[in-house]
Amino acid sequence: MARLLPAERVCAAWEGSRAVGGLGAFPFQLTVPGGRVAAAGVTIAGVLPTHRRRGVLREMMRALIDANHARGEPVAYLWATEDTIYGRFGFGLASFTAEIDLPHERSAFRAPLSSSGRVQLVPLATAEELLAPIYERVAVETPGMFERNSAWWQIRTLADPEWRRRGNGDLQCAVLEHEGRAAAYALYRINPAFQRGVQTGSVAVVEAVAASPEATQGIWRYLLDIDWMARVKADLLPLDHPLLLLMAEPRRLGFTLRDGLWVRLVDIGTAMAARSYQARGSLVIDVSDEFCSWNAGCWRVGSEGVERTEDAPSLRCDVSALGSVYLGVLPGASWHALCGFKSCSPAPSPMPTGSSKRKPHLGALKFSN
Ligand SMILES: CC(C)(COP(=O)(O)OP(=O)(O)OC[C@H]1O[C@@H](n2cnc3c(N)ncnc32)[C@H](O)[C@@H]1OP(=O)(O)O)[C@@H](O)C(=O)NCCC(=O)NCCS
Repeated sequence: MARLLPAERVCAAWEGSRAVGGLGAFPFQLTVPGGRVAAAGVTIAGVLPTHRRRGVLREMMRALIDANHARGEPVAYLWATEDTIYGRFGFGLASFTAEIDLPHERSAFRAPLSSSGRVQLVPLATAEELLAPIYERVAVETPGMFERNSAWWQIRTLADPEWRRRGNGDLQCAVLEHEGRAAAYALYRINPAFQRGVQTGSVAVVEAVAASPEATQGIWRYLLDIDWMARVKADLLPLDHPLLLLMAEPRRLGFTLRDGLWVRLVDIGTAMAARSYQARGSLVIDVSDEFCSWNAGCWRVGSEGVERTEDAPSLRCDVSALGSVYLGVLPGASWHALCGFKSCSPAPSPMPTGSSKRKPHLGALKFSN
């Protein structure tokens, strides 16, 4: 872990010489619409059961966010094990994620594959050089994904110690070649099982990444066709996963949603300027931010830049609402929709000034990628 999470990026709470809590932040380059931004991937949040509910996490979060701010990392984000904890620190729900549990016999595609490519099993020891370029082609274009370095591949993605299997089979790697080029891969575990001779086992997909629509079809067809498996299970899928349109019976996927990434803008000016905006124009937003008071106040946000302003706002919101729209992938997280949230409301119309710049124009920005 120390190779991925340098000591200076970890906070600990101490009682005498004993650590009673910890919190860390991976140094990530996070993809946002139109580019990448330095982001703290918040992790290992934990306080000993004997020391909980005394403000230890709050203190560690204070130290961690202050350190991000000082380092010039404008964004922090995380996957929450519990969805009720991080809103109070200014994190906003920024994406949904889905899981599937599909019966093998209901896994036909709507239309036959046009061209499937060739799949090969690859040893984990030599997989990185094939997998990393495919991942990077997808990650650089997909808001919410981050750049992986070699240490991450070796320690987090391709390492297969017993404790990570949780009763599943060992990690397998399949690479699909399409038109002479490695175009997709799948990491998965096989769990064979039989009851009275009938197969009841499952394929657990750890990650399946494809750099083209054809490769997506090919790698999923491979996973869905593995013999002896009664079910195919996967999680951490994006909400717009192509399987929904590929399947003859999409409802058989059991596509189930839950909260995904939670994003916190640590420095609104730098964070909002790091992404692009589809529409021209700008919007003045009055942001409240109790935990990071340096963010509070009015910001003009738009395709021509992000700056503090004295102009009257069109919208008032909590910083967590900016986290929700930041990646542009949360369905319904347009400014219009956010006005329905309790943390976000249209500001009273400013006095007419005759200047078109000052008119409230809520729909001017469309925060989607
Ligand atoms: C979650 C955990 C880190 C919280 O640590 P803690 O030191 O008890 O938290 P704090 O006392 O600083 O609480 C800060 C705030 O979070 C709230 N909170 C803490 N744990 C919570 C939980 N599990 N669910 C909901 N709210 C929680 C507190 O009520 C407090 O709210 P307030 O600011 O309104 O007063 C700790 O309970 C823990 O280690 N849990 C097991 C591991 C875990 O769940 N880690 C989180 C992974 S995402």
